[in-house]
Amino acid sequence: MKILVTGGLGFIGSHTVVELQEKGFEVVIIDDCSNSDEQVLNGITAITGKRPEFEKIDLKEKDKVEDFFKRHQDVAGVIHFAASKAVGESVEKPLLYYENNIGTLVYILKELCKKNKASFIFSSSCTVYGQADKMPITEDAPVKVAESPYGNTKQMGEEIIADTCKVTPGLNAIALRYFNPMGAHPSAEIGELPKGVPQNLVPFITQTGIGLRDQLAVFGDDYPTEDGTCIRDYIYVVDLAKAHVVALERLLDGKNADNYEVFNVGTGTGSSVLEAIQSFERVSGKKLNYKVVDRRPGDITTAYADTTKANEILGWKSEYTLDEAMKSAWVWEQKIRD
Ligand code: UD1
Repeated sequence: MKILVTGGLGFIGSHTVVELQEKGFEVVIIDDCSNSDEQVLNGITAITGKRPEFEKIDLKEKDKVEDFFKRHQDVAGVIHFAASKAVGESVEKPLLYYENNIGTLVYILKELCKKNKASFIFSSSCTVYGQADKMPITEDAPVKVAESPYGNTKQMGEEIIADTCKVTPGLNAIALRYFNPMGAHPSAEIGELPKGVPQNLVPFITQTGIGLRDQLAVFGDDYPTEDGTCIRDYIYVVDLAKAHVVALERLLDGKNADNYEVFNVGTGTGSSVLEAIQSFERVSGKKLNYKVVDRRPGDITTAYADTTKANEILGWKSEYTLDEAMKSAWVWEQKIRD
């Protein structure tokens, strides 16, 4: 069965392609390489023994999207990762984000609506909850006003899919709301490849550990948490990739209860920034140079998932601990700087 993975050369996309191929799916990747590298195909091939089909297409080019679906009539499902994801940049360039993340989503959904039957998995984010009132966060927690155009594209994306599913009986979709993805494949053939200065915590930690950055800035230690730093739910990227495969299988097997569903994907455990640093120090045996600075505007205090729905309905559960995931990130960092 053929599955289209958009953004399949990216961090979560590439790990998902591996899991799909390991399960026997035939994969075709679309990526514009704006924030990824064609070399990732070699890593995927080294792990799975199979080179996925790849087309370098910018999904903003509507004609090319149409043409792709004409040529690949046998695509049974789409996992849609392709999107821009830098929160700060989205504030500076809102239209870029609306065009990249919303325009492309609409073009793909239009093509899927032409089919009798199609399955669609959407990369959403825990950012839709903002600062939730209750921890852990369940899927029925209210969606809060978005803090950034990036966050807004995730909320709007979910609404666009829900509205489309309502009037398209053949279209079945699941939105996965990721918490904080991290780590790299155990083979160290693929991992996170941030361009420029990493905005996210874990790649900044490993780059500081390897000496590429002088010091990690810890954004605030005066939050109302036990050690004063923010709490997040760090989910191992391979666990997250597997969640996509089980969600897709649920749709392909017609086991979904509704034609649009939403699931949290996290571990259910919150870790503070200082705990993440300690984890790095344990698994690397290195002291990390860090300094507490002011809060980063827009950061929420605490977010961790209630994973009951994914555990019970998808039969999926995260398996890796923070230390195991951190170790994989560290092994990967050392490998790519070799
Ligand atoms: C961020 C986005 C989120 C998005 C996700 C995508 C914000 C406010 N949120 O999540 O919408 O879905 O990335 O990957 O930007 N930290 C430091 N020093 C650093 C980097 C981070 O102390 O150099 C802290 C942050 O304050 C935060 C935690 O580490 O408490 C995690 O930060 P990050 O990895 O950027 O993820 P989020 O902010 O949770």
